[in-house]
Amino acid sequence: MRSSDSFQVTRRDLMIVGATAIAAHAAPAVALDQPADLADLTAARPESFFPMVGFSVNGEPRSMKVDTRTTLLDALREHLHLTGTKKGCDHGQCGACTVMVNGRRINSCLTLAVMHEGDSVITVEGLGSPANLHPMQAAFIKHDGYQCGYCTPGQICSSVAMLKEVEAGVPSLVTEDLTTSATASLAEFRERMSGNICRCGAYSNIMEAIAEVAERKA
Ligand code: FES
Ligand code: FES
Repeated sequence: MRSSDSFQVTRRDLMIVGATAIAAHAAPAVALDQPADLADLTAARPESFFPMVGFSVNGEPRSMKVDTRTTLLDALREHLHLTGTKKGCDHGQCGACTVMVNGRRINSCLTLAVMHEGDSVITVEGLGSPANLHPMQAAFIKHDGYQCGYCTPGQICSSVAMLKEVEAGVPSLVTEDLTTSATASLAEFRERMSGNICRCGAYSNIMEAIAEVAERKA
């Protein structure tokens, strides 16, 4: 049987073990490669990584050569310089990047430009102009539906497409009777706009703007 004396660890032993472990951790067994120069990597990539893609934006045909990894949001902002569409989270969580593709609202940060060959994209710039505002744009101004305005293009694109969804009878989480068309109620609007975050908290005014446009359409 082992006596307690035969297993005595001195303070000095502990310090030696500790120092060895730290040294081993600090010096990896295999040296990591230096990261390759980014420009070299880009040059090395085959031409097929940069296809031409064409789609209409706000009614105008546009084509561009894009990296296959370019999101629709970056294609709009960086390639076409349509900066009305905003990048908030770049992760599909805030709705600032909402645009309409073939009439349906989508988060443009979550889709690749190359997936939209032949599509019709509408951004906030295509809804109206300063001299001829879309009714939703005018209602946002009338009801003060913004503060900093960063979320506003996404809110407006989303609300325009959202009202079309209600008109088309597309149900939402709060639609009580799935056998009838959804009604244009504030509860429906709130639920359907829940993917558009406003950090300034202009929600009540945004709802007033949407309700006014919905009423006029009804
Ligand atoms: Fe696309 Fe936030 S930037 S959802
Ligand atoms: Fe500022 Fe909505 S108005 S985030």
